[in-house]
Amino acid sequence: MSADAPAGQPAATKVNPNGPTEETVLSVEHYTDRLFRFRTTRPQSFRFRSGEFVMIGLPKDDGKPLLRAYSVASPSWDEELEFYSIKVPDGPLTSRLEAIQPGDKVLLGRKPTGTLVLDALTQGKRLYMFSTGTGFAPFASLVRDPETYERYDEVIVTHTCRDVAELTYSKNLVASLQDDPLVGEMVEGKLTLYATTTREPHARMGRITTLIETGKLFTDLGVPPLDPSTDRAMMCGSMDMIQDVKALMLKANLKEGSNAAPAEFVIEKAFAG
Ligand code: A2P
Repeated sequence: MSADAPAGQPAATKVNPNGPTEETVLSVEHYTDRLFRFRTTRPQSFRFRSGEFVMIGLPKDDGKPLLRAYSVASPSWDEELEFYSIKVPDGPLTSRLEAIQPGDKVLLGRKPTGTLVLDALTQGKRLYMFSTGTGFAPFASLVRDPETYERYDEVIVTHTCRDVAELTYSKNLVASLQDDPLVGEMVEGKLTLYATTTREPHARMGRITTLIETGKLFTDLGVPPLDPSTDRAMMCGSMDMIQDVKALMLKANLKEGSNAAPAEFVIEKAFAG
């Protein structure tokens, strides 16, 4: 008999104090056959900064957890957690995660981290958040955080996807902020969503890199070209996308920052399951 177990009872399963916590799925919304979001409970001990990512997962049949990095899409003040996910047909995690229903359990890592945080940028006037695909997730967090509007006069979020339907999450979220009790008044006149598609006709089209290079982004927005004395940028998308956008930031004389050494732009690869 285990020394820990009271007489006649089995020993309790060992809980790893550094291991993931088990959270309950509260809601699930599917946007396309490639994209969905879900919300979960948030343990009181779980602290993060808007824009950070954390490990999310499901238990495997062999009992070991299967975890992948996910940006937290909800802001740091929210009592619940939100995640925006791609569905990869053969992805070991997302192919199972896409089937979750309210009431199901998901695993949540205990150590959120990341560089897409306001503190990794030096003070500026205009904040750009460049995203493609699920790279919008960290910005879904930051556009709901009042601190973003306290720090910047103007906040421009760009989101580029292949199809119009893939813009649903960002478009709905930004539209809903107008009536948001917390940031509703702050976003007015300050927040702009610049949404484009690359493979289906839409009001605005083109890769963000092309729109920056040709200057169309700035003429469309009615703002001056990138300027390190006023502009700050965050970017999140595929590895190719962030490398290409980063090159354009460097060309405009913006310097890359980090938590340890804040500067004028920061990058993070969008995570996929
Ligand atoms: P495109 O359709 O021209 O490839 P994905 O769904 O593959 O992650 O892509 C999301 C969006 O990011 C697409 O609109 C895609 O455009 C665009 N994209 C892909 N690679 C780059 C890149 N290197 N720079 C800018 N945008 C990119």
